[in-house]
Amino acid sequence: MEKHKKPPLIIDSGSSTIKAGLAGDKIPSLTIPSFVGRAKFPHTLKKRTSDTYVGFEAERNISQLKLRYPISRGKVENWADVEELWKYVYSALSLTTNAQPVIISETSFNPCENREKTAEIFFETFNVPGMLLASQGILSLYSTGSTTGVILDCGEGTTQITPIYEGFSIAQAITRMDLAGKDLTEHLIRLLMRSGYSISSSHDIELARTIKEQKCYVSPAKIDMNSPLEKALPESFTMPDGRIIPLANERYLAAEILFTPDRLGLELPGISQLLINSVQNTAIDLRKNLYSKIYVTGGTTLMTGFGQRLLGDIKKASPKDVKVKMVLANNRINACWLGASVLSSTSEFGNSVISRRRYEEEGNRIFYTWPF
Ligand SMILES: Nc1ncnc2c1ncn2[C@@H]1O[C@H](COP(=O)(O)OP(=O)(O)OP(=O)(O)O)[C@@H](O)[C@H]1O
Ligand SMILES: [Mg+2]
Repeated sequence: MEKHKKPPLIIDSGSSTIKAGLAGDKIPSLTIPSFVGRAKFPHTLKKRTSDTYVGFEAERNISQLKLRYPISRGKVENWADVEELWKYVYSALSLTTNAQPVIISETSFNPCENREKTAEIFFETFNVPGMLLASQGILSLYSTGSTTGVILDCGEGTTQITPIYEGFSIAQAITRMDLAGKDLTEHLIRLLMRSGYSISSSHDIELARTIKEQKCYVSPAKIDMNSPLEKALPESFTMPDGRIIPLANERYLAAEILFTPDRLGLELPGISQLLINSVQNTAIDLRKNLYSKIYVTGGTTLMTGFGQRLLGDIKKASPKDVKVKMVLANNRINACWLGASVLSSTSEFGNSVISRRRYEEEGNRIFYTWPF
């Protein structure tokens, strides 16, 4: 078994934020947006050596930056930008890259080339002594203290359903839908534009995300497209430039697309049906058990009314002889990170880390046999 003196660094690189910190801590000590900013008008910002802004500096100067999101739908699309973000993590936490192993979370169906590229950066550029790539679904379940259950994780870029039995994900039943928080924000923007508001800059889009988080909610039941819309309590949001945006039915219409994607013309099942399909794809003798152990994680599930609607819809559409039980995990925006911290305290952890020596000996082929 590889013994590492220092606790591993855990990095959960999500489409909206990167959560990072040392295993053993109760929460990630660093959460930074997963965007990289470049000055819109370089002469208006202080002169500096790099032309990119990341982390807290990017947040501070956000209104003057053009933003790029290098992680799209949970998958890295721009390696140079992501490397910049990961370097920032080490410097913000005052860690040297070769001092401790690293646990990296990965989305389901992460392509092998992405695993290879991740390993190349951590082993060859950062010189880490060991690395573990772990499924976000399995990690999230560990955070709940269980080893059997179905994890529904709905974040910024993806909605992932991972049925797990005694610590192993059931590969044929894992599902992922590329419809999540980002799409709700974009739908809210469309609804606001229809009411005459213009939202176009990267900063405006980040503000729309805040409006969604603070003012939107999930309708308790499916919205009938043929009946007049129920009136939401009016609300408003004041933009930093003083503009006041009034909000009415947009408050619940934005999130409805997650439950009834056909409203957008998308040929996708709603989130509740997605979960049912996934459980129905497991062995028949496991299903009852899984329906009674549904765990909900990810930032989008924090929206008011989300749990109630999801549970109601699943109860309506699942087989009649099953008892549906659902847990809204504590600290569910950090569930994946926390699960990695739990995993690192188990006796099997040392054996699952790929050491640098093994990487040098076996090369990339390790990642082709790696489980989901
Ligand atoms: N209170 C809230 N209400 C609604 N949405 C919220 C709330 N808080 C956070 N969110 C949304 O949750 C999403 C971020 O969740 P999370 O951190 O789980 O995603 P991520 O890990 O960055 O992305 P992914 O896992 O999809 O790659 C964003 O879309 C954000 O707007
Ligand atoms: Mg995530």
